[in-house]
Amino acid sequence: MNLDYDVSQDFPFKGRIYLNNASTSLMPISSIKAMTDFLVTYNELGPDSSTADNFVREKLFLARKAISHLIKCKPEEVILTQSTTDGVNMVASGLKLKSTSNIIIRGSNHEHPANHYPWIRLSGKVQIRNLDVNEIGFFELEQLKQMVDTNTGLVVLSHALFNTGAILPVEEVGKILGESNISYFIDSAQTVGCIADVDINKIKCNFMSFNGSKWLCGPMGTGVFYCKKESGELLEPLQAGGESAIFYEGKLAYKEMPAKFQAGFRNWAGVAGLEASVVYLLRLGLGNIRQKNIKLANLLREELSKISGVTLYGPEEVEKRTSIVSFSLQNQDPEIVVERLEKESIVLAVREIFSKKVIRASMHFFNRESEILKVIEAIKKM
Ligand SMILES: Cc1ncc(COP(=O)(O)O)c(C=O)c1O
Repeated sequence: MNLDYDVSQDFPFKGRIYLNNASTSLMPISSIKAMTDFLVTYNELGPDSSTADNFVREKLFLARKAISHLIKCKPEEVILTQSTTDGVNMVASGLKLKSTSNIIIRGSNHEHPANHYPWIRLSGKVQIRNLDVNEIGFFELEQLKQMVDTNTGLVVLSHALFNTGAILPVEEVGKILGESNISYFIDSAQTVGCIADVDINKIKCNFMSFNGSKWLCGPMGTGVFYCKKESGELLEPLQAGGESAIFYEGKLAYKEMPAKFQAGFRNWAGVAGLEASVVYLLRLGLGNIRQKNIKLANLLREELSKISGVTLYGPEEVEKRTSIVSFSLQNQDPEIVVERLEKESIVLAVREIFSKKVIRASMHFFNRESEILKVIEAIKKM
């Protein structure tokens, strides 16, 4: 399959121009149907029956398998969560650290709260070291090299940034850390499903977290926590329950991964929808998706740059950015611009770069060039 056909027909559109996919994406109609089908079959089988149990088990296996193709890991390294935030907290609260340990994070007030607050909560217990960043969000690899020492317990990065769309050099960092065997966490909420290649073997991270409802076009309340098999021992599970552990001869023993980190039932209907979306994206091809996304982002950037009083943020170079386009209009409050656009059925978002508010557009492959041009016309009128 490729993107030569009008892929927007696979999605439920009702005349609105939706360019807020970095927050929550649309779901393909087929994935919405996969969730309904799942629930119907589950009920028909009798939810708490061994047949339904096998049906759910099979669905979870298929979901893990599809996700493992996506990020090139083993299915048992895929832990199903509710959100990116879940995975960040599983590491922040579960990683076994010493009081002398330090954690390196990136330009904290330039980071998404979900990948910032859980680390700030650890200040006092361990030392938090913060990499300096420029306005785009990039940091110097040299500073990182100087910051790591024998007490560094973890380095934390976002793969791409929610505000400027900058793609960080996660593979270069992986190489640096691999030499010293330092644990490495990646928040890939803004890359999986959006850029062509998110490969944990190239990034060489121990842990990664992302969600299903952004670029993967899955349902709300689904997420993935990747834990490298050999790194499972570094984490204390945050929860224990019948699904994740056994009580034997007076002692609690955790099951093997992924069960070890999945106590209790999850949103299985959501997982069915996520699996359908991941399979759909894999069939379209992540390379094709990336190409279309960048084409749309370039069109928007190009047209915006022709309007006087527009400031564009984020990297110029295509290979250093996702399809997020952040901008501001001279003497216009971004909140009001976004509000006014929504009244015209155009959905964008307001985000911050440090404390500066900007307008954020985030295109996905089902958006059309004609929609971008309509957004430009609406902005010109302002
Ligand atoms: C980089 C980054 N991390 C984490 C999150 C939070 O994701 P979730 O809602 O899945 O916890 C976001 C959401 O925009 C994000 O952009």
